[in-house]
Amino acid sequence: MLRKTAALLGLSALLITPTLAFAQDDAPTMGSDIAEACPAPANISGAIPVGAIFTISGAASVYGGSQQAAVQLAVDQINDWGFLGDGNSINILFEDSASENEQAIAAMTKLVDEDQVVAVIGPTLSREAFSADPVAQDAGVVVLGVSNTANGITDMGDFVFRNSLPEASVIPGTVADSVSELGITSAGLLYGNDDDFTVSGYEVMLSELSDAGVSIVGEETFAAGDTDFNAQLTNLIGANPDAIFVSALAAEATPIIQQARSLGYTGPIVGGNGFNSPAVLSQTGEDSNGLIVGAAWNGSSTNPLSTAFVEAFSEATGNPPDQFAAQAYTGAWLIASAIRCADSTDRAAIRDSLASLPEIETPLGLFTFDEDRNPVHPSITQVAQDGVFLPLISEEEPAS
Ligand code: ALA
Repeated sequence: MLRKTAALLGLSALLITPTLAFAQDDAPTMGSDIAEACPAPANISGAIPVGAIFTISGAASVYGGSQQAAVQLAVDQINDWGFLGDGNSINILFEDSASENEQAIAAMTKLVDEDQVVAVIGPTLSREAFSADPVAQDAGVVVLGVSNTANGITDMGDFVFRNSLPEASVIPGTVADSVSELGITSAGLLYGNDDDFTVSGYEVMLSELSDAGVSIVGEETFAAGDTDFNAQLTNLIGANPDAIFVSALAAEATPIIQQARSLGYTGPIVGGNGFNSPAVLSQTGEDSNGLIVGAAWNGSSTNPLSTAFVEAFSEATGNPPDQFAAQAYTGAWLIASAIRCADSTDRAAIRDSLASLPEIETPLGLFTFDEDRNPVHPSITQVAQDGVFLPLISEEEPAS
């Protein structure tokens, strides 16, 4: 599966070349495909308010800062280009959800009612989205999740989109690659049982491992905010699994890795979307070597839009982007694309435009929404080595 993914990325690289020259003389950004497909707007003017809700503070803040920086970069590029027409711009309004569902609801309400935004990007966490997105849906405002990976996000309504591959799309590849590359035949499972995302990740892991014929030797749970996982890990390690699969956000993922190694476990730890932060790797050091993590994007991609994004983000922030940044950057461009193609700031027109965007090149690869407003693009399985996520299977390997 991943070899197919690599082939797709290679194909993207070939396809993108002719269109890039169209847009700009300097480094490529997203938007070239849309600039060809949709003329510059003639019926909108001025600064267009767009909201973004990220967990800048709180337990999951390792994701939010990265997302905010990436959206700001995209908005700067969109406005510098004049992508929404000469003299027009996106006025991006950031709100901090602080990893709290109630704060996410308050932020969404403010953006939709007071600020009269035409669309909202975020919120960061699936549980925040399940709380806050109904506010946008009821008001008829597009909300585009850029990191929500739990099951059922877009079931909230026809104004709810996401560009973040759900666990159900990524974990099957993670399990298949782990089984084929590491020879896993038995696994223990550890997951947070009070969070929409961590429960979804667990359900997909269990189902995929079972389908792959991997025997489940133990299952353990924790709650968000827990710090001591020794009892659960001791039970799992005692059952002698080939690998331990974990569905957790970064705040819990970090001590789980550390405590598993302290208990003497040297085998593979396999994680889902919550592990996709450089903070997890920097905080665990050598303990995360060999960690396997499914992802929507990896920094080694040779897709020209991805390499240009990495360069621009690194220059703007002084740090390389993570997967959350790549998705947030892409999300801001998707919203701008929907506004451009709608040639309108009407909320319903933007919804219809977003739903009918053509397949386009993005830093995430060739991208489209399916009929349920979920993303379709390649995924990748990563392995952590010396503080960096690398592809578990290199792109150079021949397709099988
Ligand atoms: N992927 C995580 C979630 O959906 C951040 O909550």
